[in-house]
Amino acid sequence: MSDRTSPASSAFPESFTWGTASSSHQVEGDNTRSDWWDWETQGKIRSGHTSGKALGWWGGRAEEDLSLARSFHQNAHRLSLEWSRLEPQPGVFDDAAFTRYREILGHMRDIGLRPFVTLNHFTLPQWVARRGSWLDPDLPEMFARYCAEVARRLGDLVDSWMTINEPTVLVLMSYLGDKWPPASSSLVPGAKAFLHLMQAHALGSQALRSVRPDIPVGLVHNFPLFEAHRGGNPFDRAVTWVREFAWNEAILDTLSSGRVGFPFSITGREIPGLRESIDFFGVNYYGRYEVKFDPSSRLVMGRHVQTPTTALDEESDWGQADPRGLEEALIRAHQQLEVPVFVTENGIYDADDSQRPGFLVDHLHAVKRAMDRGADVRGYFHWSLVDNFEWAEGWHTPFGLIHVDRRTGERTPKQSAHLYADICRTGALPDLPVAKRDDVSTPGAAREQTSQPA
Ligand code: FCB
Repeated sequence: MSDRTSPASSAFPESFTWGTASSSHQVEGDNTRSDWWDWETQGKIRSGHTSGKALGWWGGRAEEDLSLARSFHQNAHRLSLEWSRLEPQPGVFDDAAFTRYREILGHMRDIGLRPFVTLNHFTLPQWVARRGSWLDPDLPEMFARYCAEVARRLGDLVDSWMTINEPTVLVLMSYLGDKWPPASSSLVPGAKAFLHLMQAHALGSQALRSVRPDIPVGLVHNFPLFEAHRGGNPFDRAVTWVREFAWNEAILDTLSSGRVGFPFSITGREIPGLRESIDFFGVNYYGRYEVKFDPSSRLVMGRHVQTPTTALDEESDWGQADPRGLEEALIRAHQQLEVPVFVTENGIYDADDSQRPGFLVDHLHAVKRAMDRGADVRGYFHWSLVDNFEWAEGWHTPFGLIHVDRRTGERTPKQSAHLYADICRTGALPDLPVAKRDDVSTPGAAREQTSQPA
């Protein structure tokens, strides 16, 4: 592993993709046909928050925010499409929703912001939820039908597709756990959902390519760094290995072998088309977790707890800021999958923007080091463009480069937005170090990891 304080050797290539990422539910507003709308209106979100009008993208503000991104020298944006808008009833597609997405994507094209489009970023149509969400064995076929329709009607505007965002996070939060819908909270549904997600990805990829063979397809994985809490303790090391294997290695292995194996299937399950399903891989990286053996913890991928050491806020934890993990994830993904890699999300929630500038520069140096070590990294998308609605955390965790006044809707770029703009414009990084691990850590009590891992 290289010294994390060593500077990058040179500037990023001119062709590098510089952007920010968002997802439909978190910015659009009035997403009334999705499973998350039902979930929120049952009071399941922290402090009873709801997405409501969100950032008003659907109502017209998408263009304004995306123009702001462009004026800050970004050349791409990763956004997602809301399946529940496009196909509100099984097999019935909504022309007006397609028209609105054509407006947004067309605007991006006009201003020079390349659209990277995710087909599914956590939310599902309510009719899918009624069938059992990702536990429905017919869902992969239905997802592929939706993908084909989208490719036919929007493909001319799209630069790259991503089928599904963070399947393992979804499995943990919605099926092994109970913080997100449908809150199954047990092992068997978790394994089943993972299998269906992989089948949906493979079929979705085939459907997208059959309509638009010219557009690359990727899958996005949340790729944390796991390390033993007590490095010399064999039990901590063992549970760390299990955690790492089940979380990161399993997805790399599934994609490279075309088979869903342990721990999601005991016997191993071959999925047709999976091995050839990606043209690139998306790494979402938020941080590092220390894993500690705890015989009293609930059995989810080994008896352990994770010690959240960047707990800026005890109730929500994206791990400890540590750029080494990003560097290693990019190298490993590229080596094992042999496809180009993008950082499809990386960011920090930080209300006063005191830590984000350092976090950003530190992590971009890690990206550059990974490239210098041979990883074929093509782009970086910061999470996120504007402060937005954050799933179980509601409006509590502002991740944006641009502050949004929830009352007036006014947008105010933070210092980090200007810093990122300079980097996007010049392709060069300011010197390290901007943030040190100690500056961003406040030791928190060990607790069981049932919240979002990254
Ligand atoms: C990721 C999600 C994204 C956002 C960030 C903070 O896991 O993909 O939607 O919630 O975390």
